[in-house]
Amino acid sequence: MVTDPYQLTGPLILPSILSANFTRLGSEIHEVLNGGGDFLHLDIMDGHFVPNISFGPHITHATRQSTPAYLDCHLMISDPVQYAAPLLKAGANSLTFHVEAVTDPIITAKELKKLGCHVGITLRPATPIEKIYPVLDLVDLVLIMSVVPGFSGQKFMPEALPKAETIKRRLRADQRLEIDGGIKPDNIRQAADAGVDWFVVASAIFDKPDRPAAIAELRKQLG
Ligand code: DX5
Ligand code: ZN
Repeated sequence: MVTDPYQLTGPLILPSILSANFTRLGSEIHEVLNGGGDFLHLDIMDGHFVPNISFGPHITHATRQSTPAYLDCHLMISDPVQYAAPLLKAGANSLTFHVEAVTDPIITAKELKKLGCHVGITLRPATPIEKIYPVLDLVDLVLIMSVVPGFSGQKFMPEALPKAETIKRRLRADQRLEIDGGIKPDNIRQAADAGVDWFVVASAIFDKPDRPAAIAELRKQLG
């Protein structure tokens, strides 16, 4: 279980609680973190930026009460700045916003940075990768989406791999590259070869009866 992933350089596996059983969230969290998951990915959706509503500060707080692990929040919301302070107060460590959600990503990155957290930038699969170039120097993390954001359990889009390679070449050693969507044992190695550091996984962990075995299978592919 990892509390400061920026101290580490190896590949890390981030279970996304979007596919957890919320009737027993605490034990689900313990199972994946004691079972080999490194830290957690939290998918915040507002029903406006994406056609799904997930959860916000309240469940983030419940997650924080369940574990000291680092909490990586993926904001699929139209107004990331509005919810930044409540999410950080609830225990989030990192806030990743969508370039399509804001009018000026440089201003948004600076506003989030001022709050004292790690900041990430991400984009929908259909958005040209160049859109995030102006903000690259200001962020700690770049998240490449390998599905259309909104739902877990979708099929991996292989066009994410050349994007990951392109971005990796532009990142400093203190920045991290993350991939999210459809990651499974049969594609995680390709993503690692493209330069990805952090692998978000929801259904390929939580939909399996034996979560530690599912995580071990993913890790085995990373070598
Ligand atoms: C999708 C979310 C993902 C999702 C991944 O909008 O950003 O984090 O939970 O789910 P899987 O791993 O099932 O594709
Ligand atoms: Zn996500």
